[in-house]
Amino acid sequence: MNMNKEIKIAPSILGADYGNLNEYLKKYESFSDWFHVDVMDGNFVKNLTIGPVVVKGIKTKIPLDCHLMINNPHLYIEDFAKAGAYAITIHAEASRHLPEDITKIKELGCKAGVSINPDTSVDAIAKVLPMVDLVLIMSVHPGFGGQAFIPEVLDKVKWIREHFPDLDIAIDGGIDHETAPLAIEAGANILVSGSYILKADDPEKAAERLRGAVK
Ligand code: DX5
Ligand code: ZN
Repeated sequence: MNMNKEIKIAPSILGADYGNLNEYLKKYESFSDWFHVDVMDGNFVKNLTIGPVVVKGIKTKIPLDCHLMINNPHLYIEDFAKAGAYAITIHAEASRHLPEDITKIKELGCKAGVSINPDTSVDAIAKVLPMVDLVLIMSVHPGFGGQAFIPEVLDKVKWIREHFPDLDIAIDGGIDHETAPLAIEAGANILVSGSYILKADDPEKAAERLRGAVK
């Protein structure tokens, strides 16, 4: 895939130290384009994480990319926007009014993203792709970090890149130095990575390796 879009690295902070979050995030700032904030409601996914109050408490110059793995996202979009989200991504499976929810995110001044699970077809979002700022393709079943990459989702990335050459395409789940090149080759330009970066001895080197700067 011949793509001119710059690769962005978005460390998922799911595995961060939440008792000391702002201090913890500082060591990732110099090489992160976005911080990916995983919001889980114990309902859409079988895990619970954080809400807008924690997002509001994050003090960083890095844009916060909030991935809402929650049902009824329309009820919380405004709270995340007010808490300082740069981008808000909602799941097609969880939203009952996808175009309206996307419009609301944009009206609140945030970048709007739509995400689909590994088992969801791109047909579920084809209609809204012209209106979003980014699409987030899940390459694991959402809920937990540290799972194995599902390569079959790459066909969805390829389809979207072919039809929307300028769209930001993020991929999330199981991204490491072996899977990142496959995702980039398929057309993804935003790499969300949790355990590979957070558990690395040298997180900056791990991030640059994903970006392709270090082989
Ligand atoms: C999974 C989350 C991911 C996760 C990625 O539900 O959406 O963002 O934190 O973690 P790794 O990179 O470890 O798969
Ligand atoms: Zn995520």
